[in-house]
Amino acid sequence: MLHLVSVGGLSLFGAVAATAAAAAAASTSNCSSAPVTLHLPDAPYDNFFYSDCNTAVQVVVTTPQPDSDLATISPRFIAAWPAGNSGIAAYFAPQDGANNGSLSIQIVNSTVGSPLAAIYRDDSSGSTPYFGVTGTLRFNSSASLTTPILGSIRTIRDFTEGASVLQPQIQDAIQASSLPDGGAGLQRLWLDNVTTTHLNFTPAATNGSVTIGDDNQTLNFDAGDYIFAAEFNYPQLTQLSPAQVLSNSSASLIQNDPERTAALSFLSYSNKLLAGAWRFLTYFGRDSMISALLLEPILSKGENSATEAVIAAVLERLDRVDGSVCHEETIGDYATWLNQGAGVVSTDPQYDYKMIDSDFYLPILMNQYFVQNSVGRSRTNSFSSITAGAINPANTNLTYGQLAVINAERILGLAAPFAGPDNQTQANLVHLKDNEVVGQWRDSADGIGGGRIPYDVNTALMPAALRAIASLSRNGFFTSSSSDWSSLADEYAQVWEDETLAFFRVTVPQSQAQQLVSTYTQTIAFTGPNQIDSIDGDVVYHALALDGSNNQSQVLVMNSDDCFRHFLLSNSNSNTNTNTTTDQTQLTLFVNQTANNIRRTFPAGLLTDAGMLIANPAYGTDPSYVENWTTGAYHGTVIWGWPLAMMAKGLEQQLGRCNQQGQQPDFCVDTVVYNNVKQAYNMLWDSIEANTAQLSQEVWSWVYNSANESFVATPLGVMAPPPGQSVQTESDIRQLWSLTFLAVTRNTTFGSS
Ligand SMILES: *[C@@H]1O[C@H](CO)[C@@H](O)[C@H](O)[C@H]1NC(C)=O
Ligand SMILES: *[C@@H]1O[C@H](CO)[C@@H](O)[C@H](O)[C@H]1NC(C)=O
Ligand SMILES: *[C@@H]1O[C@H](CO)[C@@H](O)[C@H](O)[C@H]1NC(C)=O
Ligand SMILES: *[C@@H]1O[C@H](CO)[C@@H](O)[C@H](O)[C@H]1NC(C)=O
Ligand SMILES: *[C@@H]1O[C@H](CO)[C@@H](O)[C@H](O)[C@H]1NC(C)=O
Ligand SMILES: *[C@@H]1O[C@H](CO)[C@@H](O)[C@H](O)[C@H]1NC(C)=O
Ligand SMILES: *[C@@H]1O[C@H](CO)[C@@H](O)[C@H](O)[C@H]1NC(C)=O
Ligand SMILES: *[C@@H]1O[C@H](CO)[C@@H](O)[C@H](O)[C@H]1NC(C)=O
Ligand SMILES: *[C@@H]1O[C@H](CO)[C@@H](O)[C@H](O)[C@H]1NC(C)=O
Ligand SMILES: *[C@@H]1O[C@H](CO)[C@@H](O)[C@H](O)[C@H]1NC(C)=O
Ligand SMILES: *[C@@H]1O[C@H](CO)[C@@H](O)[C@H](O)[C@H]1NC(C)=O
Ligand SMILES: *[C@@H]1O[C@H](CO)[C@@H](O)[C@H](O)[C@H]1NC(C)=O
Repeated sequence: MLHLVSVGGLSLFGAVAATAAAAAAASTSNCSSAPVTLHLPDAPYDNFFYSDCNTAVQVVVTTPQPDSDLATISPRFIAAWPAGNSGIAAYFAPQDGANNGSLSIQIVNSTVGSPLAAIYRDDSSGSTPYFGVTGTLRFNSSASLTTPILGSIRTIRDFTEGASVLQPQIQDAIQASSLPDGGAGLQRLWLDNVTTTHLNFTPAATNGSVTIGDDNQTLNFDAGDYIFAAEFNYPQLTQLSPAQVLSNSSASLIQNDPERTAALSFLSYSNKLLAGAWRFLTYFGRDSMISALLLEPILSKGENSATEAVIAAVLERLDRVDGSVCHEETIGDYATWLNQGAGVVSTDPQYDYKMIDSDFYLPILMNQYFVQNSVGRSRTNSFSSITAGAINPANTNLTYGQLAVINAERILGLAAPFAGPDNQTQANLVHLKDNEVVGQWRDSADGIGGGRIPYDVNTALMPAALRAIASLSRNGFFTSSSSDWSSLADEYAQVWEDETLAFFRVTVPQSQAQQLVSTYTQTIAFTGPNQIDSIDGDVVYHALALDGSNNQSQVLVMNSDDCFRHFLLSNSNSNTNTNTTTDQTQLTLFVNQTANNIRRTFPAGLLTDAGMLIANPAYGTDPSYVENWTTGAYHGTVIWGWPLAMMAKGLEQQLGRCNQQGQQPDFCVDTVVYNNVKQAYNMLWDSIEANTAQLSQEVWSWVYNSANESFVATPLGVMAPPPGQSVQTESDIRQLWSLTFLAVTRNTTFGSS
């Protein structure tokens, strides 16, 4: 039985489409509500999202633009499904041998869909139905499908990122065949021997032609329109609708902000939230927890809510042996591939525990929900007694409460040495795991400059997690543990909060700072002003990490990671201990330097017209900093969406403490510092509001326009990659944690600029 789902109840079947559907009859959707669709053009990429009650899929077509680098951008079709983290990539080239810029491929409205429609094909055999997507693809000249990849998004990423790896075992399993309706298609049986992915094309008009090349893998097309059908028979996820993702009190966002709520829904499922589309359409621990923390005011709560989906997903995937939180899961065809590589015949998922930061977000998020929220508090007992399900075969038989205890024990174990008397040494700080070069959110090869001891983890995540563990313990969350951590974790937290910043603090005397920025400006041939006049005192910032490459004791790159401390620590609503007073002198210096670094424009500081940069290597002395932190590097002098949200929220919380009678930190009465923070908050918001077009993306870059004297936001994908990286990293058009601006808004209590 074949269902080709129509949109809005209209029959979208023309004669050719019906032919494409072979002999089977078309029928209307059995979904009770209309599909949710989104069209997000972002040249050279054109993105389409489609979800209904059966499936959720993203389709992206790439057409090189006149200014595209043809070494990295070529005509490409991608279909990507959250289910099994599955996908299809098809690379095209013009048949006449002209360069790739001469071929345009487009998805166009047609009788098949406007432009997409769903495929739902159940053969009534009891096996998993085929789920997929169909539409019309237009080639403006004759084209060849030269490289198909059918199976997993991870396999596609192995090809698109880095060394263009294709595995013969996976590629050789692709079979081309002619279709009875005059079309041709490719198919591949997955390594599980059960699932098959199909990509079929049928000419939409009688003068079209698609034929199989001599190698039995290439498909050749005349110019024209072709109906494509991309489908596979694998169990799908249960998507949370916009109304299910949002709390009732935020339901008005569905009308007021339909695009972002639709994107949030596309990334939200009953048992996990996904990190980003299309490259990260699966579980990522850090991404989902940072998102849940920032989205707290609007995210649904209670049984079957988005908040519990995030926490449960993390607990299900926890390493029961050492309490590590899973960073990324590998499922579907790529999991079978990895298992095979390890000599095991299995389709079981694989979990990656290489990150060290993810462990700490878990108790922070659990405290936010199970202690600070009344719905969460009422769910504590039912939730902690849930037994882990079949997602991770290793954890069945453990309850969520037991898994949370294992994680807390890990954190307390990591915290203890540094908290010991006279034990505040660099060696006792939290290090990356042995043999790993990454461990926190700046997880590209040079993200933290080869550092072993990251700034965010040690100065913010650890003390905030300890505060949260103390609070959870005081509120009876860890019932399955015999330990009472309410005092111990707070004692540890105080040491970690007060004694870690100094290891990372960098003070550059004013004249040296001006000299360094001036030199850097010339080195990178920056055509804008060097901004050294804004350096009105010594420059203070915190190193990205300690123990870096090239024998650098501190990785001297100014950065935005202060946001973690502002957002997660010493805020007025942390509801942890009655006495969480931090070192006041240190706090005043800390908020002041963050404010100064945000107020100052790049290259003196972090601000640009395109948003706050996550890194600025101007004050570094090692020449490799200039080379590695560029406008083309994933964690370079670029802008990410979520740090803007976390910094805005963090500064708002710090300013908010000054409005609390009787509990004001000292900096509130230092007029210079307080006004600095207020000004930084408002300048940050001005730049956020000037960049609404970019905010929902994962990351973007900039180019300086001398004529307008401004930084112009530019897709990272079109920038030249840094040395040592041959292919540019493509950004995700929608990233879960960039949607946090749905909840983070400007607070006018603190004036305007
Ligand atoms: C559509 O049909 C499938 C298979 O018969 C079923 O599993 C699914 O629940 C149906 N959906 C709705 C909304 O009825
Ligand atoms: C054109 O794109 C195809 C993939 O679609 C690629 O294999 C080929 O190398 C590209 N040609 C040039 C000249 O860049
Ligand atoms: C197809 O589109 C490309 C890119 O837009 C353009 O350069 C080329 O001239 C077009 N080819 C034809 C035959 O129209
Ligand atoms: C395709 O159809 C959709 C839905 O009717 C419409 O919003 C869109 O503008 C159409 N696109 C084009 C290029 O006509
Ligand atoms: C799939 O079938 C092949 C060939 O029979 C076999 O070697 C392989 O182990 C099977 N894989 C799985 C996951 O069952
Ligand atoms: C392509 O398939 C045909 C028919 O199965 C076969 O005769 C031919 O040898 C194949 N060619 C290649 C290059 O594999
Ligand atoms: C774990 O659960 C399975 C069934 O889910 C059961 O067969 C097994 O005995 C349990 N193991 C332990 C140690 O409780
Ligand atoms: C102090 O640090 C050392 C070295 O890491 C460690 O062996 C010792 O256990 C720590 N002391 C306490 C009280 O934790
Ligand atoms: C910069 O990148 C190069 C090449 O990847 C690497 O060898 C070097 O260690 C990096 N330097 C720093 C400070 O990260
Ligand atoms: C805060 O920063 C400003 C600007 O650099 C500086 O003048 C002032 O002395 C700083 N205040 C403190 C307490 O550090
Ligand atoms: C809070 O802690 C500080 C520093 O440890 C201490 O001086 C102060 O007396 C404490 N305040 C209360 C109310 O316990
Ligand atoms: C703005 O900040 C003030 C002071 O912290 C707070 O009371 C108020 O709730 C905030 N407003 C919003 C809309 O969050």
